[in-house]
Amino acid sequence: MRSVPKYLVTVLLFALACFLASASDPVPSKTSVLQSTIPLLLFCMDPKVVTANDFFFSGLQIPRNTANRLGSNVTLVNVDKLPGLNTLGISLARIDFAPYELNPPHTHPLGTEIIVVAEGTLYVGFVTSNTDNKLFTKVLNKGDVFVFPIGLIHFQFNVGKTNAVAFAGLSSQNPGVITIANAVFGSNPPINPDVLTRPSKWKIM
Ligand SMILES: *[C@@H]1O[C@H](CO)[C@@H](O)[C@H](O)[C@H]1NC(C)=O
Repeated sequence: MRSVPKYLVTVLLFALACFLASASDPVPSKTSVLQSTIPLLLFCMDPKVVTANDFFFSGLQIPRNTANRLGSNVTLVNVDKLPGLNTLGISLARIDFAPYELNPPHTHPLGTEIIVVAEGTLYVGFVTSNTDNKLFTKVLNKGDVFVFPIGLIHFQFNVGKTNAVAFAGLSSQNPGVITIANAVFGSNPPINPDVLTRPSKWKIM
């Protein structure tokens, strides 16, 4: 048997190292299903060509435009914006809220979210799974921290008469997001109305 070329061994070892490193973040295996916009697997960069800029992002101090339908604006710094996050299982977001506006119920399938309020007052909450669908809420002021466990539906509502700003850490390089109302009532094509309007046989308390 001919011996395997040396370069092939190097390439395979490199790929294996990258695969093992990515085990800390479940993204590469589930990404294709959850977010078709990013590649199935992000390749590790050659350490020799990586620079400090691959680990750097600038601009999260800038207030975002909230003049949209929701009155809120999420700026997510994930692996698409900050390549150095690849395989590290973490990302960051800035969320801006106009007065009395909302980041509506949504879920991050791949990440837990921890937020800290930098400005204003937010009413936040999450709901547990179908075992009891229990709601946990809190009013957060500047400096307060709250955590939304992975996968659970949660929201943030600016209950103050000034703008609010929060920063969030997420335990995935690409946590994904599903806004419940958009997915159920705004799908493309729409879900058959019979599916959405059929009344439940069981009384919901
Ligand atoms: C969020 O803010 C940025 C910058 O202010 C703006 O370009 C973008 O369109 C805004 N997104 C939404 C959904 O309004």
